[in-house]
Amino acid sequence: MKKKTLALLMAAIVAIPTVSLMGCGKKESADVVIIGAGGAGLSAAIQAKQDGAKNVVVLEKMPMVGGNTNRATGGLNAAGTKQQQEKGIEDSAEVMFEDTMKGGHQKNNPELVKKLSEEAKDSVAWLTDLGADLNDVGRLAGATNYRAHRPTGGAPVGAELVKTLNKSAKDQKIDVRLWNKASEIVLDKEGKVCGVKATDKDSKEYTIDTKAVIVAGGGFGANQEMVVKYKPELKGFSTTNHNGATGDGIVLAEKAGADLVDMAEIQTHPTVVPEKAVMVSEAVRGNGAILINKEGKRFINELLTRDVVSKGILDQPDKQAYLFFDDGLRKSLKSTEEYFNMGLVTEADSVEDLAAKLEIDPATMKATVDKYNQGVAAKSDEFQRPDLPRELNQGKVYAILVAPAVHHTMGGIKINTNAEVLNKDGKVIPGLFAAGEVTGGVHGGNRLGGNALADIVTYGRTAGKDAVKYINQ
Ligand code: FUM
Repeated sequence: MKKKTLALLMAAIVAIPTVSLMGCGKKESADVVIIGAGGAGLSAAIQAKQDGAKNVVVLEKMPMVGGNTNRATGGLNAAGTKQQQEKGIEDSAEVMFEDTMKGGHQKNNPELVKKLSEEAKDSVAWLTDLGADLNDVGRLAGATNYRAHRPTGGAPVGAELVKTLNKSAKDQKIDVRLWNKASEIVLDKEGKVCGVKATDKDSKEYTIDTKAVIVAGGGFGANQEMVVKYKPELKGFSTTNHNGATGDGIVLAEKAGADLVDMAEIQTHPTVVPEKAVMVSEAVRGNGAILINKEGKRFINELLTRDVVSKGILDQPDKQAYLFFDDGLRKSLKSTEEYFNMGLVTEADSVEDLAAKLEIDPATMKATVDKYNQGVAAKSDEFQRPDLPRELNQGKVYAILVAPAVHHTMGGIKINTNAEVLNKDGKVIPGLFAAGEVTGGVHGGNRLGGNALADIVTYGRTAGKDAVKYINQ
């Protein structure tokens, strides 16, 4: 056998998880096991591989990868990136830190936020190196500066991230197992992680021996029972989350001794289409859309944080409002096209015609839009909106009916800045790591738009890196 062929064969053997047949079923081993193949789990897996882990197994209970990241639209927040510099945008980790703490009502863990603000730019560079297009930079609510990175033309960012991470995981031959659900994190007598139990597609149980587990199973926004347990006033609210966001990772980690933090901090997204539960991205407001109530009047600065805008809409007639925009905005943001494709948009050639279709008094709605446009021209808004990107008077006009729905669960597993999981005494559980929406502490009492993707990639990578350091020590 030629030397090169022999070397390739040896490398392949080393990369295959060890499998032995024990009395109670299949048993295997891996360097790192990751629970969840959303944005955090895939980032952790790729980083662990890049840092030298030979076999990395990702368990995903759903039939597809991506989790809630598939639905992310508005952007990934980062300060001090090459993309910002190329557009002449001045920003800094300090300002991102202040915005994030203010948005979270200062309830966030400042150490976790500091790391997020300082390292999100590296996450953008890492994703760009993996092939992601993050060239458009927009502004989302609660941000002082334009820092929401997304694909050229303002296309949805989540699909771009999942495509990029999934391709990289495949290229690196990471063992991602769909329809495989983790059922227990196993600890040894000293309280260190020593394995994971899981069930496969056919509900057969198996165990993977491993020294390091990264929990990245997402939040619990789709688990109505758990949402109501922690925040009873959200009973009956719909959700923007995918069906798999049921908080299983939180339950598994808690059973392994993890402490939980901020569980009652659950966010609603203000602009979700009633009945259909389709989120209309904050990027639409960021690019200039306004909110108009059923009386044809504006009622709020649309760029206030989600908790405030949600409350503002719930205070309006029918607890609903319309997002209003024009062709100029539509052209500025590719992601709007999906709302047209889904048939969610009412359109007309004039504000008065649109008002008639919505059964709003045309004169009132026309006066509202005219006043807003005059404010844009004068750079002064009656609701002190800080950013007035465009007048809404180009071509056709559009409206989408919206109301708040459960969006992000800020609470979860308690971690430190190494993404290590802490127990109820504040001590590290050796070998247990967590990243993404399954964790708590990063976002405090209210997450800013664009900070979820910053969080999942930054802390996903941290967990991957630190898990490899741990197994090699
Ligand atoms: O509105 C949005 O596009 C959502 C963004 C986010 O949750 O970060």
